[in-house]
Amino acid sequence: MVEETPWQQALRYANRADPYPFYEELRRTPVARQPDGTYVVSTYREIVALLHDPRVSSDPRKAPSPAPAEDSAEDSAEDSAEGSAEDSAEDSAEDSGERQGAEPSIITCDPPEHDRDRRMMTPHFVGPPHAPALVSGLEPEIRHLVDGLLDRMRGKTRIDAVDEFAYPLPVTVICRVLGVPLEDEPRFHQWIETALDAWEYGPETASEDFPARLAGGSRAVQEFGRFAAELCDRYARQPGPGMLSTMVNEDGPEGRMSRGLLTSNALLLIFAGHETTVNLIAHSVLTLLRHPDALEKLRHRPELIVSGVEELLRFESSVQFWPTRSAVADIDIAGTTIPKGAPIFLAYGSANRDPEQFTDPDGLDLERRDNQHLGFGQGIHFCFGAPLARLEVQNAVGEFVRRVENPRLVEDPPPYRRNQIFRGPRHVLVDIDGIRD
Ligand code: HEM
Repeated sequence: MVEETPWQQALRYANRADPYPFYEELRRTPVARQPDGTYVVSTYREIVALLHDPRVSSDPRKAPSPAPAEDSAEDSAEDSAEGSAEDSAEDSAEDSGERQGAEPSIITCDPPEHDRDRRMMTPHFVGPPHAPALVSGLEPEIRHLVDGLLDRMRGKTRIDAVDEFAYPLPVTVICRVLGVPLEDEPRFHQWIETALDAWEYGPETASEDFPARLAGGSRAVQEFGRFAAELCDRYARQPGPGMLSTMVNEDGPEGRMSRGLLTSNALLLIFAGHETTVNLIAHSVLTLLRHPDALEKLRHRPELIVSGVEELLRFESSVQFWPTRSAVADIDIAGTTIPKGAPIFLAYGSANRDPEQFTDPDGLDLERRDNQHLGFGQGIHFCFGAPLARLEVQNAVGEFVRRVENPRLVEDPPPYRRNQIFRGPRHVLVDIDGIRD
């Protein structure tokens, strides 16, 4: 059996609950070439440099297939594992990811298209200066939803913090913001789950069940795409509430998006608009229950929720890495040359635990200063929904801490969802004594 690289081990489902020891090993080689020719970047400084480097593209159409494995003398142990294990990773990304759409969404294109399309979306969503009250104006409704979810736990002695709390809030909010009917949630939830189970990289793409998962994921993405297109078409015929309808019907200074662009960006917004937030709320509850001192501190000093949520996102990043980038020219970095055409994975989850950037990176410090984490990325692709996500998570976690009496973790570690990029627990069972007013 050939030894696996730290990155390959981090990708294994068995290590989903704790990839951090593998990240620590990985950071010894800040830019580590993998057997399939992908370059994994795991250190904070190098990731930030590449996030601002115009020689790095986010458009998967610019990345040819990964280079074949090489066994050159300078290859480290990183490169000695069997290449075939990751052969189908590219197909996996292609079938279950963004390439399905006729046109790329903003997360998978480069300037000038990226900047033009993001500018076309921004006035319909983001707060100041375009619509100062749009996001902050949602706070009363978010609070109401959070209260309702907590009220429903009254009388229970055991809850699932994912199914009963972390999931319903963001999905309800994003449906409301975008104008997606909440009745459609069971359908798109299923498509997203199926697609996420198929979006895989690394050794387990060689497993027996992977081809079936891949085929299922591909069908799910197509159905999800049809759903997004039909929704946009419906709003073109009859305007309605929410951001999708205004994007479909209103001209900005740069005009209106084509139907293809609307569809791929609608799909991105529905998906990105809740998946990552679900995982952050779930991980926040889990992390605080694992750190009783921090939980107690937050209960006594609720104002710490703002810096606390940033720390919780640094500590357990909802987006562990982003896989669509590639080099459009040779790039010399950290003693390695990433050759033109090579895929580049930026491992945010590892950078956020980099001791060169963060003091005591494996410790949880809700008052951490200078916490420039990469949980929302950085540079031109910085998270579009960060203001909304922050508002949701601050309210959800703040109220959970205040209202839930004596919460205790039932299972540690809890079961994890399969997906490697959008890492989060499938369930977090918590025993409770009650719900305060
Ligand atoms: C805790 C919640 C969230 C986290 C951790 C998160 C994280 C991220 C990260 C890391 C990126 C950068 C990906 C890259 O490197 O290219 C990103 C981009 C993006 N996010 Fe989020 N996100 C969250 C919530 C949201 C929400 C609520 C929305 C929508 C309302 C959203 C929409 C987007 C979009 C559209 C992009 C692409 C931006 C671009 O390419 O210009 N995200 N997000």
